[in-house]
Amino acid sequence: MPNFNFIQMADPQVGMFSRLSGMDPEAASLFRNHGLNVKDAPKVEGVEQERQNLETALEQFDEIDPAFIVVCGDMVDTAGDDEQISLIRETLGGYSSKVPVHWVAGNHDIGVNNLIPDRDSVDMYRAEFGADYYAFDHGESKFIILDSVILDRPQNLPDEHKAQMDFLGDTLRSRESIESEHVVAFMHHPLFLDNAEEADTDFKWAPSPPNQSSGYWTIPLERRPPVVKLLREANVQTVFAGHWHRNHIASDNGLDIVVTSALGYPLGNDPSGYRIVNVNDSTLDHNYKQI
Ligand SMILES: [Fe+2]
Repeated sequence: MPNFNFIQMADPQVGMFSRLSGMDPEAASLFRNHGLNVKDAPKVEGVEQERQNLETALEQFDEIDPAFIVVCGDMVDTAGDDEQISLIRETLGGYSSKVPVHWVAGNHDIGVNNLIPDRDSVDMYRAEFGADYYAFDHGESKFIILDSVILDRPQNLPDEHKAQMDFLGDTLRSRESIESEHVVAFMHHPLFLDNAEEADTDFKWAPSPPNQSSGYWTIPLERRPPVVKLLREANVQTVFAGHWHRNHIASDNGLDIVVTSALGYPLGNDPSGYRIVNVNDSTLDHNYKQI
């Protein structure tokens, strides 16, 4: 029997089913050429599909009885959208009366035009969802929430980038981390696709989306090594992420980047779902579960 389990999910992204519905064939094929599996679907308005997915997942969580839930970013499709934020607050947010729900900032939550955070967008996120980087303990293990959107593109907020790196270093070097059974990190963007030293190229199966610069899917090499170094020094073995709307695991020398498909709109072949993580004294294992 596991000591405890928790739920890790990513990209409920309320509003995305509507945005990607009713697309003309030319626009849809542009997405597909970029590895984004847009489905042919008549135009829908509103957030009903995401509501259904969230409600189904929450019913299943009642059976699973997790210790906590971590939502790895892109809670909504459009930052600041009242209808989208209301739905996520009513459903997942409401579940925090049963178990803690930890939010992780995604590029759609905290980036201006889904990309680059600035002072206002970060302040708005913090007012809505709370801190964008922090640590918490459960059992004998430590869990670290990171804001990968600032790690990805910190140009407007260099001080925020530095403060977060200082927080990560201080946290990982703390006595509590050193003595923890597991130290686990969560972020929206995967650190890498294949290996920690890879360049910021676009990948055959995952080129950057239309109108986005290359390296859209991972943390750029310019800022990746310091994060990897700190994680390795602290013997962090698993970083959970989202952002790709498909499942993927990249392992480099004992560091696993576990990418979880979307609870919302999937962009690969994996269905909408979430991950159940079992934490034991010596092992941490996980399985993707379709809703
Ligand atoms: Fe997303």
